[in-house]
Order: sequence, then structure tokens, then C-alpha cells
Amino acid sequence: MQSKTVESALNKQINEELQSAYVYLGMAAEADRLGLPGFANWFKMQYQEELAHADKFFNYILERDGEVKLDALKAPEIKDATPLSLFESALAHEQHISACIFKLKDLARAESDHATDVFLEWFVTEQVEEEANARGVIDQLKMIEGNKNGLFLIDRELAGRQAEEAEG
Ligand SMILES: [Fe+2]
Ligand SMILES: [Fe+2]
Repeated sequence: MQSKTVESALNKQINEELQSAYVYLGMAAEADRLGLPGFANWFKMQYQEELAHADKFFNYILERDGEVKLDALKAPEIKDATPLSLFESALAHEQHISACIFKLKDLARAESDHATDVFLEWFVTEQVEEEANARGVIDQLKMIEGNKNGLFLIDRELAGRQAEEAEG
């Protein structure tokens, strides 16, 4: 039997993942506005990945015979965006999500909820990848120092990101 404290924290994480999706959808729109279709594609793929994360938590709660409780989402705040600021915000956001996952894992352990502890392993690994992906693009953007040709090449590279096969 899953503790109610853990269940409530898992529900909160559904909201965090949906909020992430919403933030990335906002970034996709902003990238399109900046005339960067490749960046927009990357954020749109990220949006879909976050929806899949929310779905994993949703399915897990139900699998444990728990109750799903959905909460409201906030409008994403994206101001004076540049290609670099979008990815810096993405990295900061992923670091926030990593902290949420670690806290959730600490809670599962404190409550001796071994199943949830194991379930969260996938997200720990995923967050390492999420942060590294954002950091990789930040490094490239810093390297080109706003050079238009460089930006064009990065945009073309990001245009190539495709939806991943559903895992797990
Ligand atoms: Fe996520
Ligand atoms: Fe993420």
C-alpha cells in the first residue's frame, strides 16, 4: 500500500511535468516568432516528452490503486527571449525538475516506499540527459556569439530532432 504523502507528491509531480510541457510549448511559439523553426521544433518535441513524463506518473498512480488529482497550470512567462535565453531558461527549468525528482525520491525512501523509489530511477537518469541536452545547445550558442551563420546551422540541427519512441 502506498502512503498518502507519497501519492500526493506524485500528483504534484504530474502537475510539474504538465507545467514543463506548457513552458516548452510557450518556448516553441517564441522560437517561431524569432524566425527559428528548428528551435521551435526542438521545443515542441520537448513539450511532447514532458507530456509523456506526466503520463508515466499518471499511469503509475493508477497502477498503485491511487487517486489522480489534477491541478491548474500557470501561463508560461517568457519575456524578451533570445535563442540563448530560451535555452538558459530550459536548463534552469530542468534543474528545478531534477530537484523535484530528488525530493520525491528522498520522500519515497523515508516512507519505505520501495516501488516508488525504483519507479523514480528512470527519472533520475532522464534528468541527467535533459540537463545535458540543454547545456549542449547553450555551449554551441555561446561558441557562435550571435553569429547569424552559426545560428542558422544550429537551427538546422535542432530541426532534425524527432519524436522519441515511447519508453518503459
Ligand atoms: Fe520531465
Ligand atoms: Fe524535462
